[in-house]
Amino acid sequence: MSAEPTPFLEALSLSGARIEATLDRLLGEAALVGEAVRPARLLSAMRHATLGGGKRIRPFLLIEAAKLFGAEGEGVARAAAAVEMLHCYSLVHDDLPQMDDDDLRRGRPTAHRAFDEATAILAGDALLTLAFDTLADPATHADGAIRAELVLRLARASGLGGMVGGQMLDLTAEGRWSADGRPLALPDAEIRRLQAMKTGALLRFPLEAGAILAGADGDAVARLGRFGAIVGLAFQIADDLLDVEASAEALGKATGKDAARGKGTLVSLHGVAAMKAELDRLVVAAQSELAPYGAAAETLLEAARFIADRRS
Ligand code: IPE
Ligand code: IPE
Ligand code: MG
Ligand code: MG
Ligand code: MG
Repeated sequence: MSAEPTPFLEALSLSGARIEATLDRLLGEAALVGEAVRPARLLSAMRHATLGGGKRIRPFLLIEAAKLFGAEGEGVARAAAAVEMLHCYSLVHDDLPQMDDDDLRRGRPTAHRAFDEATAILAGDALLTLAFDTLADPATHADGAIRAELVLRLARASGLGGMVGGQMLDLTAEGRWSADGRPLALPDAEIRRLQAMKTGALLRFPLEAGAILAGADGDAVARLGRFGAIVGLAFQIADDLLDVEASAEALGKATGKDAARGKGTLVSLHGVAAMKAELDRLVVAAQSELAPYGAAAETLLEAARFIADRRS
């Protein structure tokens, strides 16, 4: 059953098409100044991992946050593409046999299945690097201080104390390095912190980045960041609910994997019904952060609801 095409879904799909075009351009064959050549197999694997799929929710959040403060255009589209490349790299590595060992992503074979493990590792590496390249390029913003701010924030969101660190804690919680190999029974607060790192940080970043690109003041950036942190938690709770309740066909990736690995999620700890109620609370909390912006923030409010209610 396909979803009703609401104005929100139409806006998401329109922005998705724009991101697709920007990504297609950034992942072109022609070498940039300072590059030698772009090896065809590596570029194909990067394009496989990035183009033609995904909800594009992170770039959408960046574009809408920028719009809230009056910015749009090529620089915003490039920054939005950068966060999507970073996200796609995280998916390529997350799916590797040494990580989650998944064969299906976005309804297609994962990068290491479509290519091979070495190529997938390198494609992830190069997407990560190209994300920072894209942010640092003057075409993204004329002001070097703003570009540096975006680079720094993306590094903090995605690295050691952000997404990558969260992935490490996630694997540790599966019991990979415990003496008996059994999953660790993490308390609620530790699961939340792990999830804020592995997923939340990359949803929070685009909201802050959109505001920064638009020249919003520090209070506004912080407010958008708080909205992003709540939405980020809701995003991973929804992901964990879908892992329990959805089908691989609807999701385009395998399901039931968290339970199979004994992974401690908030859903396994508190149950499905409790986490659905929590999602409702998180949406209200996220939306109230944006109350000062009134109707201008309507699309972001709908994005929070979409993230909590998503079916894929
Ligand atoms: C999946 O992210 C990985 C998580 C952080 C839970 P998305 O659900 O945004 O994946 P795509 O981009 O739509 O494929
Ligand atoms: C991955 O979380 C989050 C990333 C940093 C990629 P999951 O392992 O739950 O994501 P899926 O379910 O494979 O998309
Ligand atoms: Mg994982
Ligand atoms: Mg995974
Ligand atoms: Mg998951």
